[in-house]
Formats: sequence, structure tokens, C-alpha cells
Amino acid sequence: THVAVLYGGISAEREVSLSTGAQVIAALREAGFEVSPIEVTQDLPATIGALAAARPDAVFNALHGRFGEDGCIQGVLDWMGLPYTHSGVRASSVAMDKAAAKAVFSAHGLPVAAHRVISPEELAEADPLPLPYVVKPVDEGSSVGVTILREGDNRREEIARSWRFGRRIMAESFIPGRELTVAVMGEEALAVTEIATGNQFYDYEAKYADGGSQHVLPAPIHPEIAAEAKRIAVAAHRALGCRGVSRSDFRYDDTAGEPGRLYLLEVNTQPGMTRTSLLPEQAAHRGIGFPDLCAWMIGEARH
Ligand code: DAL
Ligand code: MG
Repeated sequence: THVAVLYGGISAEREVSLSTGAQVIAALREAGFEVSPIEVTQDLPATIGALAAARPDAVFNALHGRFGEDGCIQGVLDWMGLPYTHSGVRASSVAMDKAAAKAVFSAHGLPVAAHRVISPEELAEADPLPLPYVVKPVDEGSSVGVTILREGDNRREEIARSWRFGRRIMAESFIPGRELTVAVMGEEALAVTEIATGNQFYDYEAKYADGGSQHVLPAPIHPEIAAEAKRIAVAAHRALGCRGVSRSDFRYDDTAGEPGRLYLLEVNTQPGMTRTSLLPEQAAHRGIGFPDLCAWMIGEARH
């Protein structure tokens, strides 16, 4: 089987994708696939030309963020009639828009934190929610552009003035407690990982620097909560219509004791597959090595 791997891209998560791509290319070769790596740049016609010339049996989408995770490249691949890994156009675009995704989660009865979508001008004017709250771009990944605003913090106007992630800002109540994540493979939740970091939160550095965070797998949490997190992750994957793998991120408020309350933050339709990433780690925990995971994903490729 001949597989083209799309990686790189032009989003803020380009570096993450270069890393995911390198891992995936090596793993697919190890698994016996013929691999054509295609680095995606600003030049979309060049990418389309490379795909057309390679004529692969399937495309492994190793892109993250805008144009790679939001339905754009998925639409191009549909148009070209090429089967590709991960979610299709609709699930990708809805999941990438945190406001749209939360509307779907709420409609399915899944627990989410209170939020408001505001403009940079509105953020400059006043606190959109009681402190503490989080501000984040509606459509970025890897915690790019995320800030937690707490009592006594005077960064709000500065953040609003220098905002460079479009017109819509997601302001979300900050949920105290712990950070959990659940990867879904097919229709099954793999495991629950707790992420502990010395940083203020699980930010970009904590995600990708060696030693930036500790992953505790399986998460040392009340068994009812572990089961609930898995149930919600599968329900969210289905509600969005995801395909192949996804990874759902949660806050777990246990500050009043266990079992506490879970809040679904988001579903990632293109979960990271770098050396420090969570999905491959959960797959390994379930006895599925990285090359087998990649091969399984190719088997699920559709258009
Ligand atoms: N957005 C990054 C790649 C992740 O969710 O793993
Ligand atoms: Mg994300």
C-alpha cells in the first residue's frame, strides 16, 4: 500500500505537525508501507500537484490546526477522491470551532464549562465572566493563545489589544482541579491519563518540552469518574461524527472531594502523535504499538 503523509502546514501548530509527521513517516515505513512524505506549505497548488503525482492509495493526514484540522484539507482530499485518515469535513470543522463544538456537546447533554464568545473590544471593556476565567482563540490548538485570568491580574486590556487570533474570543469559566484526557480509537475509549505540570496550566511548553509535564496513566481517580470520562469521550466522538481517532480533553473538579465533576473542554480530531503525545501513549498502554496504531488508521481511511 502506498501512503502519502501530509505534514507541516501553515498553522501555529506547524512545528507540532513536523514532529507528528516525522514519527508517522518512520512508523509507516516500519509497518511495511510505501511512503511519500509531502510537506505542506503556503503553496496549496504544490500540495495538490504532489498528491496528484504520487497517486497514493491513501493519505495519512499528520497536519494540526488551521487548514489541516478544520475541514479545509479534508475538502480538498474529498474533491480529489483520495481516502484519508481521521475525521471528514464536517466533524473537523465543527470540532475546530470550540463554540460550535460546545453547542453540539450541550445538545447531547455532555457537561461543558460556562462560556461566552466575545470580541477583542468587549474583552478590553470588561470582564466577560466572573474571575477566574480562561480566554482562548475559538479555533487554535496546543494551547496557543490561551491565558488564565485570575483575581488581581491586570493583563486583560493588554491581551485584548494585542489579540491576533481573529474576531472571536472564547471566554470560559476556569475549572479548578485536575486535567484529564481520553483518546478514542474507533468507537472505544483507550484510557484516562492525568496530566500534571509545574506550569500554570498544560500550556504549549508543558505539552511539547521534554519533562514539561508528567502523564499518569491510568489516572489515579475515582473509578466512577474514569468510566464517566470514557463514556463522555465516546459520546463526543459520535456526536461530532468523528472517524478513526480523536482525543477529548477534560477538567476534573475534585476540590470538594471525590467523585467530583467533569467538564469536557474539547475534542481534538487530529491528536498529536509526537514523542510526548498522549494518544500513542494510551494506545501503547493498551498493547498497540505506534506502527500498529498508524497502520490501523490507514485501514480506517475514507473519503
Ligand atoms: N492540538 C494538538 C496537536 C493535540 O491536540 O494533540
Ligand atoms: Mg486542541
